[in-house]
Amino acid sequence: MKEDRIRWNEKYMNKETHSGEPAKIVKQFFRLASKGNALDIAAGTGKNALFLAEQGFSVDAVDISDAALRMFASRHPNISPVCADLDTFDIPRERYSLVLNLRFLNRRLFPYIREGLMPGGILIFESYLEGTGEDYCRPSCRDYLLRDNELLHSFLSLKILFYQETKIAEQREFCHIASLVAMKPEVSCCPSFPLKEQTADDK
Ligand SMILES: C[S@@+](CC[C@H](N)C(=O)[O-])C[C@H]1O[C@@H](n2cnc3c(N)ncnc32)[C@H](O)[C@@H]1O
Repeated sequence: MKEDRIRWNEKYMNKETHSGEPAKIVKQFFRLASKGNALDIAAGTGKNALFLAEQGFSVDAVDISDAALRMFASRHPNISPVCADLDTFDIPRERYSLVLNLRFLNRRLFPYIREGLMPGGILIFESYLEGTGEDYCRPSCRDYLLRDNELLHSFLSLKILFYQETKIAEQREFCHIASLVAMKPEVSCCPSFPLKEQTADDK
């Protein structure tokens, strides 16, 4: 959405933002993926994309904010910045050995993320949970918050390697987050998109 671009550009332009340290979950699990193409969904200021590029991945870094992408796109030749709205963006099929989705939620993308992984590819997903209480940092809109167990159930057609829902301290606030690491099976037994049910007319 155009409003998202304006809002996020303002946010990134109005404060001194640095790429910062890659997320702990990325450092912990990226080695499970074979070197190749990686996708960073909603890459922000690129802390995770830069880290993966330095590790030898070719990274497609997608974000709606051109201000954010400009901060890091030219810092490594392995990074391809993609300024796009993830409400409509199509993830290419079976292109990625590693997909990151951190601190961003767009449920429309779930089947495309599964399809975008190569067989054996790794998904690292971590985002905010609804949680309870007033003292939690999280997006204000409920649509952008995961429900309990939702992330786990959404990727059950992948092999789940790690899953947890926990409360962490972040910038002197507390957040509830769900974290998932999963692998796309080499041979898929379950279709990601529902198949049309057979009717008597089809027989
Ligand atoms: C909380 S930041 C997370 C950034 C990064 N993944 C991280 O973990 O630091 C969310 C990002 O989503 C991007 N974003 C929000 N709405 C978007 C949309 N519709 N399409 C693409 N990117 C969007 C914002 O520009 C912002 O960089």
